[in-house]
Amino acid sequence: MRILFLCTAHNSLSQRLYLALSPSHDVTIELAISEDVMITAAELARPDVVICPFLTARVPKVIYDNYTTLIVHPGPPGDVGPSALDWVLLGDDGSIENATELLKILDNSPPRPGRTHWGVTVLQAIEEFDAGPVWAFEQFPLDIDERGLTKSSLYRGPVSRAAISSVLVAVSRIQETARVSAEGRPCVFHKASPDFRHLSIENRLPFQGGRLFHRPLLKAAQRNFDVTRHTAQQISRRIRCGDSQPGALSNLFGLGLYLYGGLVDETPGGPNSGVMPAASPGTIVGIRNDALCITTCDGKGVWISHIRRVKKSSDVALWPKIPAVSGLLELGLLDIYEIENLYWSAPPDWSRSPFATMQDVWVELSTYNDSCLVAYLHWEFYNGAMSSSQCSRLVEAMDYILSTSTPKRPIHAVVLMGGSYFSNGIDLNVIEASQSPAEESWININRIDDVVQYLLLEFPRRNVLTIGALRGNAAAGGVALAAACDVVIAGSEIVLSPAYRGVGLYGSEYHTISYPGRCGAHKAKEILQSMTPMSPFEARCVGLVDHVLIGSGFVLDEKIRTHVPFLLKSVLSGHGFWKSTQDLSAMALSKARTLELCEMSKDFFSARSVRYHSRRFNFVRKVKNHHTPLRFARHRRLNSRCLDEEEKDSFDDVRYYQRQTEYDLVTRLEAELQNREVDSSQSKVEILKKAAEPLFSCYYKAVDEVFTPPRSPSASHEETAKNEVPI
Ligand code: COA
Repeated sequence: MRILFLCTAHNSLSQRLYLALSPSHDVTIELAISEDVMITAAELARPDVVICPFLTARVPKVIYDNYTTLIVHPGPPGDVGPSALDWVLLGDDGSIENATELLKILDNSPPRPGRTHWGVTVLQAIEEFDAGPVWAFEQFPLDIDERGLTKSSLYRGPVSRAAISSVLVAVSRIQETARVSAEGRPCVFHKASPDFRHLSIENRLPFQGGRLFHRPLLKAAQRNFDVTRHTAQQISRRIRCGDSQPGALSNLFGLGLYLYGGLVDETPGGPNSGVMPAASPGTIVGIRNDALCITTCDGKGVWISHIRRVKKSSDVALWPKIPAVSGLLELGLLDIYEIENLYWSAPPDWSRSPFATMQDVWVELSTYNDSCLVAYLHWEFYNGAMSSSQCSRLVEAMDYILSTSTPKRPIHAVVLMGGSYFSNGIDLNVIEASQSPAEESWININRIDDVVQYLLLEFPRRNVLTIGALRGNAAAGGVALAAACDVVIAGSEIVLSPAYRGVGLYGSEYHTISYPGRCGAHKAKEILQSMTPMSPFEARCVGLVDHVLIGSGFVLDEKIRTHVPFLLKSVLSGHGFWKSTQDLSAMALSKARTLELCEMSKDFFSARSVRYHSRRFNFVRKVKNHHTPLRFARHRRLNSRCLDEEEKDSFDDVRYYQRQTEYDLVTRLEAELQNREVDSSQSKVEILKKAAEPLFSCYYKAVDEVFTPPRSPSASHEETAKNEVPI
C-alpha cells in the first residue's frame, strides 16, 4: 500500500515504524507543520492509508474524510488526552474519574501502587478526538516504580513495541478488508470489528489495567512536589513522568527550574549519611559526577540529573537541558566548595553498587569456561549523549579494565554494553550551553576520539577482543563508536542513524576507517550521505553490524551473554574480522584522526560553522521545523534535481558559506539604506522568537504570571519567581 506518515517530529517511533513498514509498503513522510502542509502532502502522496505515529495536532477533516487515517495513541482504548503516559506514571490507577480530584488525592494521600498494565491503540481519525473506531490495540505489564523508568524510556521501550505490532496488525486488517479498485488500489474499507477495541492483539484479552478516562494536558507545574511531605517515591514519580519533556517545574533550588532524573537512592542509612548525617528534606546531600541527590522526608534520596531554565517571555528560544550540578553552579545556586564537600563517590572498583543509586559507568567481570575473562562495560548517559567528562570516565574505566588484565589472568574480551541508548555521540546540549560552543565541541570530539582509540589501538595491542553490543539506539559518533569494535552485535529493535550531516558535521570517531573498512568505500559514502535511519538488519546487510539478536531488555542481555563465548571461540580459531584487512597502525590512526579533525575544525571554526551552530541551536532548543526534508517527504521529490540542502555539493564548501555571509551582509546594508530595516529592537526579538518557536509549545508557552510553589516558599523564592515564567 501507499502510506503517508503525518508526524509532529520524525521521532524514534516513527523511524522504527518506517523501517518496519517500508520493506512491504511504499512509505512517505510529512511533518505536520500546518493544516495546509498536511493537506498538500495528502494530495501529492495520494495514500491508501495515512498513519500518524506521533502527532500532537489535529488531522484536518478533509484528510480523514478522504483517506483512512490511523492515529497511534499511547494509551489503551478509552484513554483520551495528550498526556497519556504522564498520568499513568504519576500514579493514575483509574480509580478516580475526575482529573482535578485525582490530582488532589495523588498530592495528599500516600502513594498507591499504580496501574499494572498499559497499552497502545491504533484508531481511525474522526471528528471527535481519540474516539474513532479501533483497528488494533496491544497491552503490556507495567511497574511504574521500576528503577530508571521515565516517560521517555517507557515510550522508547514497551510503548513503541506495542505501537509497532498494533500498526502492523491494523494495516493488515485494513488490507484484508479492502476492496480493490479498477487500478488495483485498495479503495473501500469495511468497518473495524468491535472485537478490535476489546481484545488486545497478542493475548486476546480485554485491557487489564483499570478504568480509563479523558485526562487533560498535565502541565509542568502540576508535577511540582513539596519536600516537607512528599516521599522519595512520590517525588520520583513526579519527576519521571515529565522526563524527557517538559520536566517537573519546581522551586526546590530557589528558582523555578524544570527538573529531570528522579532516581530513588536506596543506600542503607540514607544518602551520603557519612558526610551529611541529618539534613532537612530537600537539602542537597550528595553529588556524584554531574548529578545531585536531595534528601527526602522518608530518609531516602532522589537524584536530579538535569535541569532546564524556564523560558521567560523575553527569551528567544528554550534553554538547553543541562547536567544539574554544572547548571546550578552557573546559576550561582551551588558553589565549588559545596560540590567538593558533598562529593559522594561510586564504588572505586567500577563495580555496580548493590543498591539503587546514581551510577553512569560500571564494569562487570565475567568468566566463561573457567578460563576466559570478559569485561562488560556499561554506561547509562542521559539521552545517549557523551560529554567530555563522561568520555573521560569511560577512558578511566577502560584503563581499569586493562589494569585488571594480567599475564596469569588475561582479559579476553571487552563488551561495550552502553545503556538504554548506546550512544548519540557528543553532547550537543552541554556544548550549546557552554560559553564557547565551538571550543567545547572541539574538546568533546577529541575526548570521544580518545574513547574510540582504545578500541582500535589499546585493546587490540593487548589481544583483547572488542565487542559492541547495541542494546539501544545509536546515532552519528555513537554508531562509529560501535563500528570501531572487532564485532558488533545489535538488538533487533534498535535504530541506527550513522550519518552526521543532519547536525551539520563531517564527523570523527575514526569513522573514515571503520565505515569503509566494514562496508567498503562506496557504501560508507552512501550511508553518510543518505542520512536516513537504518534497521539492524539493513546495517548487517551492509556490514556495519555483524550479528542481530532478536529481542530487547533482559532477554537481549541474556542472548548477548550467551553469544559472547561463541565469538571468543571463533576468534581463537582465527576467523578474520574487518580489522584484519585494514592498516590500524598508530600512524594510520593518527593520520585518519588528523584528517577528520581538520574537517571538524572547519565545522566548528570556519565560515562553514554556521551550518553546525545553527542546526545545533535548533536541535537543542527544539525549534520547530519549517519544512520536511525531501529524503523523508518523497512525495515532494518531483525530479532528481529536487535535493535537500545537505544533498547539495555546496553543503560542504567553505567558500559557499563565506560568499553567503558576504551576501547577507550586503543585503542587510541595502535594507538599512532603503530604510527597510526593522526599526525597534522589540520587533527584532519578536521576529527571532517566531523563527525559534518550540516544537511542543503547549508545554513551554511563556505566560507572564507568577509561578506559585505549593507550600510556604521562602521570600527569595517569591522574588525570583516573579521574574520567571510559569507553565
Ligand atoms: N546530544 C544531546 N542530546 C541529544 C543528542 C546529542 N548528541 N542526541 C539526542 N539527544 C537528545 C534529544 O535532544 C532528545 O532530548 P529530549 O528528549 O530531552 O528532548 C533526546 O535525546 C531524544 O532525541 P530525539 O531526537 O527526540 O530522538 P529521536 O529518536 O527522535 O532521534 C536522533 C534520534 C539520533 C536521530 C537524533 O536525536 C539526533 O539527530 N541526534 C544527534 C546525533 C548527533 O548528530 N550527534 C553529534 C555528532 S557525534
